[in-house]
Amino acid sequence: MNLKKPIGVFDSGYGGLTVLKEMVQVLPQYDYLYLGDNARAPYGPRSFDTVYQYTLEAVNWFFEQGCELVILACNTASAKALRTIQQKDLPKLAPGKRVLGVIRPTTEIIGNYSKTGNIGILGTNGTVLSNSYPIEIEKFFPAIQVFQEACPMWVPLIENGEFNQAGADYFVQKNLQQLLAQSPEIDTVLLACTHYPLLLKKIQQFAPSNIQFVSQGEIVAKSLANYLERHTNIANKCSLTGEIQFFTTDDSADFDKHAALFFGAPVCSQHIDLQ
Ligand code: DGL
Repeated sequence: MNLKKPIGVFDSGYGGLTVLKEMVQVLPQYDYLYLGDNARAPYGPRSFDTVYQYTLEAVNWFFEQGCELVILACNTASAKALRTIQQKDLPKLAPGKRVLGVIRPTTEIIGNYSKTGNIGILGTNGTVLSNSYPIEIEKFFPAIQVFQEACPMWVPLIENGEFNQAGADYFVQKNLQQLLAQSPEIDTVLLACTHYPLLLKKIQQFAPSNIQFVSQGEIVAKSLANYLERHTNIANKCSLTGEIQFFTTDDSADFDKHAALFFGAPVCSQHIDLQ
C-alpha cells in the first residue's frame, strides 16, 4: 500500500505514456502511477468481456495502491470497459473513487478542429467497432460527419519497435487511404489510439497537406486539469510531491527500453502481476 495517493494512469502497453507525458507538463505537482499491461497487449482485437476483465483487474490494483483517481489512457479500454466499471463496479468497490477515460474529453472538443465538419477517426478494431466516437461526437456536435478506419496492425508495429521501418509504410498508407477515400471533405483526423502519436511523422508523410492530425495527450491533460479544478473533493485527496512511478506486467528492463520513446524521458519500471 502506497502512503501517497497518486493519480493512476493505465494502458494496455506503452501508449498511455504519450498521455502521461502531457499530464506531467500540465499538472507537474501531482504524483502519478503508470501501469502498462504489456504482457497482455494489444487489447484492440480482444472481446468486450476480456478487455473489461483485464481493465477491472488493473483498476483494482490501482485502488490497492491508494489511487483515488484512475485515468484509462487507452481508447480500447475506455470504449469497452469504462462504462461498466463506472456504473456497475465502482458503486460496490469504492464509491468515493473515480475512473475516467479518454473518449469523453476528446469528443467534447474535436468538432471545433474541423472547418468542413468532416472528421476521420483512426483507432484499433475494438475502438472502431464499439462505435463510441460517432456516438459521443454526435452528442456534442450533431452536425459533424464522422468516418472511421480500424488499423489493426499499427499497435503491434509500434509495440514491436517497427514503427519507423519501411514495413510500417505499407499499413500506414493502406489505412490512411481507406479512411480518406470515405469522403473528400475530411480535413481533420483524430489519432484515437494513444499509441499512434509515434506514427505521426509517417502518417503525415503519406497524407495530403490540408489534413490536420490531432493527438489526444494534450486534450486529455487539459481536460484533467479542468476536472480537478471543478472536483476539489477528488483533487484534495490526490498527493502532491511530483513523483512518477512506472509498472508493467511484462519484463521491466524491456519496458524501460521502449517506454522512453513514448514518454520522452528515461523510465525505470517495476514488474507486477495482475489478477
Ligand atoms: N493505446 C491503446 C488505445 O488507445 C492501444 C490498444 C491496444 O492495446 O490495442 O486504444
